[in-house]
Parts: sequence; C-alpha cells; structure tokens
Amino acid sequence: MTPDQLRKYLEFYRDLGMSPLYRRTNGAIAPRRAVDAAPPAEPATAIAPDSPLPILPPFAPEGETLESIIEDIGDCKRCRLHEGRTQIVFGSGNPQAELVFVGEGPGADEDEQGLPFVGRAGQFLTQMIEGTAAREGIPIKRKDVYICNVVKCRPPANRTPLPDEMEICGQFLFRQLAGIRPKAICALGSTAVKALLGTKEGVMRLRGHWHKWRDIPVMVTYHPSYLLRPYNQNAKREAWEDLKKVLHYVYD
Ligand code: URA
Repeated sequence: MTPDQLRKYLEFYRDLGMSPLYRRTNGAIAPRRAVDAAPPAEPATAIAPDSPLPILPPFAPEGETLESIIEDIGDCKRCRLHEGRTQIVFGSGNPQAELVFVGEGPGADEDEQGLPFVGRAGQFLTQMIEGTAAREGIPIKRKDVYICNVVKCRPPANRTPLPDEMEICGQFLFRQLAGIRPKAICALGSTAVKALLGTKEGVMRLRGHWHKWRDIPVMVTYHPSYLLRPYNQNAKREAWEDLKKVLHYVYD
C-alpha cells in the first residue's frame, strides 16, 4: 500500500469516528502511535504493515440501534453515489427481525420512494417471501423480516456498485446487521455475496449452502432481478428451494 492509499484509509476511518488505529506486532496488538488509548475490547487489527490492505476491525459497537446508525449516516456524501440520489434508502421491515435480506442497491423506484425492493424485483421478492412462507405453513409476511442493500444510494443507470462504494457503504450494512443480530441472512445476488462473504465466487456455486457473516449463517441465492428474466425458470426453482431452507431454519 502506498503512503497515499494508507493516508486515505486512515482518513476514512477517522471520519467514521474510529481512532486510534492499531497495528499487530508478532501477534500482539500495539498502538500505531503513542496516543491516548488503551487497546479496544475487540481484537484490533487495523494496520498490518505486511499486508496489502489493512484488516479492519469491527469498528461499530455491538447493539447499536438502527436510528443511531441513520443519524450517523446523516446527509451522507462519503462517496460519489450521493450525487445522483433522490434520497438514501436505508432499509425497511422489523428492526428485530430474525431474518434479513440483503440486495445490491436501490433502483429508480426505491430511490423515489426511499424504500428498498419496491419496484418489479421487489414485488417479486415480496411474493417469494410471502408465497413460500404461506405454502410452508410459516406465518410471516414481508413486514416481519428486514430488507436492505449493500449501498444505500442508487448507482447511476443502475450500474453495479464499485468496490470503493461497497467498502464505504458496506460499513453501514455491517452496523445494521450487528444492530439487528438476525438468526440468518439471505444474500441476494453477487454484490451482497461479495460484501458479506468477501468472495468473488459466483452465486451459482455458492447458493443453496450455508456460509457465515461473522457468526451469523448466510444463505446465498439469486437476485430477484435475475429471476425475472424469462429464461431463468431453473434458477427460479432453485431460489424457492433456498428460501425454503432459510425460512425453516429461522422459523421452525
Ligand atoms: N435491487 C436491489 O438490489 N435492491 C433494491 O432495493 C431494488 C432492486
């Protein structure tokens, strides 16, 4: 990492209220500079001089409320996505949900309404959740789960979020998840998979199996927009299977 990249990283985390940062020396944690603090309670692994990127600690306190995270996001201008948004789309549903669905980012309808998954893909997701639950005898509706995205502002022309946008906004997703502490997470599509599991492995290979974000089980499945394409009948059937697995795991 160049000094300039390192400076940007430090500035970014300082802006988010994280200071001081620590580096690991022979497995031990040492303050990077002789500044104010005692080592934090969480294992601090921010600056590892030999690795290309710092390994970042979970910087948010556990158990934050969604309101306090929204307050912290404020009128966010931390990345370029703010330039084209109408409003921030934070998430919707039960803040104490046992199941959280994570998508990619708001589209035009979501940007307009300020709510995630309210367009065509969203209606399909709602149908999938409520239809599968009803058929499996599980008494839940969309309002009982929590739904959010990796990025909270609509990417221009619905393009895929860029790595730095995912990195910046992903921190708020992680804080949301840590605040809600669901029993399971369902990752919808490859952007959610990259953000939560840190892998570029495709959805097709990962779906249908349990993975983990921190200690929370993650089921991977297809993004609803992908399922809406007419030639993806097979994928649709697989997604129903994935969803059944998640619903039974969480609500049985
Ligand atoms: N696609 C997403 O990934 N999220 C939304 O909120 C809507 C469409």
